[in-house]
Amino acid sequence: MFDHLKAQPQDKILQLIAMYRDDPRPTKIDLGVGVYKDATGLTPVMRAVKAAEKKLWEMETTKTYTGLAGEPAYNAALAGMILGTAVSMDRVASVATPGGTGAIRQALELIKLATPSATVWISNPTWPNHPSIIRYLGMNMAEYRYFDAATRGIDFPGLMADLATVKAGDVVLLHGCCHNPTGANLDAAQWEGVITLLSAKGAIPFVDLAYQGFGDGLEPDAAATRRIAAAFPEVLIAASCSKNFGIYRERTGILIGIGPADGKGVLQGNLNFLNRQNYSFPPDHGARLVTMILEDPALKADWMAELEEVRLNMLTLRQSLADELRRATNSDRFDFVATHRGMFSRLGLTEDQVNTLRDEHGIYMVGDSRINIAGLNTRTVPILAAAIAQVAG
Ligand code: LMR
Repeated sequence: MFDHLKAQPQDKILQLIAMYRDDPRPTKIDLGVGVYKDATGLTPVMRAVKAAEKKLWEMETTKTYTGLAGEPAYNAALAGMILGTAVSMDRVASVATPGGTGAIRQALELIKLATPSATVWISNPTWPNHPSIIRYLGMNMAEYRYFDAATRGIDFPGLMADLATVKAGDVVLLHGCCHNPTGANLDAAQWEGVITLLSAKGAIPFVDLAYQGFGDGLEPDAAATRRIAAAFPEVLIAASCSKNFGIYRERTGILIGIGPADGKGVLQGNLNFLNRQNYSFPPDHGARLVTMILEDPALKADWMAELEEVRLNMLTLRQSLADELRRATNSDRFDFVATHRGMFSRLGLTEDQVNTLRDEHGIYMVGDSRINIAGLNTRTVPILAAAIAQVAG
């Protein structure tokens, strides 16, 4: 049987982790996978997470199964953090999932279950795992323009022209904030334009929210998702706690389905069914930590303060990289780095330039020239700027 298997294409982001690991140069710089690192290069366990873990160890009395949809308290706390008061909870069904990717996978399976012929629209570019899972599930897929390679901002006319061809019942995957891989994001007026257009088309928005708190703050980063939740009869939201709680390996996510209140029972039943088919009960450790933090005012305040430190640190790095690039290239063509938001910026370098940076300078970034801003520190910012000026100057 196994001799029928074909080699699978490597995931570009994961491939980079291995290449970086195998590089013996002590001066190497990792700007690849989207993991937050502090100035010392460490991905720390957040203070509130540590405190919650200690408390959990003391008070946990059983490790029996959780509910199929996860613990109701987790779903309520996290749905509340994402949606605020934008939509009545009578319309909200949800399941805990193994990470944000688990939520994306379950959402796509739900779409396939409901409408096997639906087309899922993704931004060009998007996180490579989006098209990979959609293809793997054998679903129809289409792309809408998103990024203007010249300005490294949004190609809004292109985006609107492509979304104008969406058909009723098509699903449109949108990054709620901190677009991955570009770092370029819609402003509030542009979001309104997209919402009005997609409403008129009868499309179903599917929001991927993996970086809430990494862009403009916990509340501002949820604003577009909340507007969408309030504006459409049916919405899917896949959210991750990997980044904002720093619990990557705990696999903590949620899939939220918003529909008419009288259909909530059936929607919830289908979400539960899909969990049962794919992995039965969702993981609980990370979900429980998130619940404890969100329900305890002191832990929540400490978590929010640390998340804000993380966000501001990335903003400072962005500004200093933009400043250094200005100096090193004697031009303003990399100023966009300071206005992008989230962990990533797509620099607009060619694949050859990316390869040269890796081979000659030991600087690792994804082949499309996406850098993880959090992989930098005050020492490495000028090194990166000088290397970019040398290869692209
Ligand atoms: C990334 O884009 O680097 C992260 O979302 C990690 C991953 O799984 O790809």
